Amino acid sequence: MDKKRYAIIGFGGLGKTHFHNLMKIEKQRGDMELVAICNEDLEAITQNVQLNITAVSMENFDFSKYNLYTDYKEMLAKEKLDFVFIALPSFLHCEVAVYCMEQGADVYTEKPMAITLEQCNLMMETAQRTGKKLMVGHCLRFTDEYVFIKNAIQNNTYGKPIKAEFSRKSPIPNWSAGGWLLNEEKSGGCLVDMHVHDVDMMVWLFGAPEEVQVVTSHQMSSFESAYAIYRYPNLSVSIIADWGIQSSFPFEAKYAITFEDAYIESVNGKVTVYTNEGKFEPELPGVDPMYDEVVEFLNAVIDGKPFKTADVNSVKETMKVVFREKELGKA
Ligand SMILES: NC(=O)c1ccc[n+]([C@@H]2O[C@H](COP(=O)([O-])OP(=O)(O)OC[C@H]3O[C@@H](n4cnc5c(N)ncnc54)[C@H](O)[C@@H]3O)[C@@H](O)[C@H]2O)c1
Repeated sequence: MDKKRYAIIGFGGLGKTHFHNLMKIEKQRGDMELVAICNEDLEAITQNVQLNITAVSMENFDFSKYNLYTDYKEMLAKEKLDFVFIALPSFLHCEVAVYCMEQGADVYTEKPMAITLEQCNLMMETAQRTGKKLMVGHCLRFTDEYVFIKNAIQNNTYGKPIKAEFSRKSPIPNWSAGGWLLNEEKSGGCLVDMHVHDVDMMVWLFGAPEEVQVVTSHQMSSFESAYAIYRYPNLSVSIIADWGIQSSFPFEAKYAITFEDAYIESVNGKVTVYTNEGKFEPELPGVDPMYDEVVEFLNAVIDGKPFKTADVNSVKETMKVVFREKELGKA
């Protein structure tokens, strides 16, 4: 049996995180092999990396068995690839995803899908025209505390949701290669890079909102924070995003969702359910979202299974909301 051949494009924090998981999955599946890595800085490929919440070690891996490139077009000209993982700075997602699909490869790209709505549209059109699969890695869709809420809504466990608040706060993100995250032209700023996680959760859980209002702050960098409210027929939602916080502040992600029969809160993944009878902390499966999202992509591109969780059409709805907020926030 011929193994499926794939590459990772962009080998910084997220490229290395996916590499770790892919090495485990390669051993389990036995039907796929990493053949090439593309990163503009070749020396950085073997270096360990520190992310906002974890460190990724590159020790104990033999990189001599992979073909290394600095130019993705050269790589695609020389390698026959079945699929690629894109973990590049966000402004490159569209350009590289479109090129790879045109060259016959299925594409997994990191979130955010892209940094403009036009780019998202082009990616969708290219996937449709070429028949290639496209997935955007929104890891929260695979994360315990959010899956818990998704199931509660689907199973009507606590009645209907009535109110929801999400918040995500980070010290200033100065850890990206060359500082691209802080450049709005390259990352889209806090709204497109970080706030997109909570908007995606809102859209995944409740669908697209009827109305959006937002106030943004531009004190220290452009679009460093946002206070947004969303209207649904029988639900109100608010989201706070802030990545302009002093560096000793730890990363923090929260939600609080009021159902007819329970108030459910998550603080950095620790979920508490409050009811009129008392409170409890549900036991969560303890999944690895980065691992599971890659498995979903591989199940689709190698085994032909449908995307269960990471439907790109709903990601596009997320991006529409975020770009609308950017427009409103500029006013
Ligand atoms: N899912 C999540 O929770 C999550 C978390 C962090 C980052 N991300 C996303 O992952 C993507 C990558 O982020 P990161 O933190 O890994 O960034 P990073 O800066 O650590 O890594 C990007 C890598 O791409 C390389 N690169 C840049 N331009 C290139 C080019 N033209 N050709 C080849 N290589 C090039 C850089 O040298 C660097 O190694 C971003 O879109 C980011 O938003 C997602």
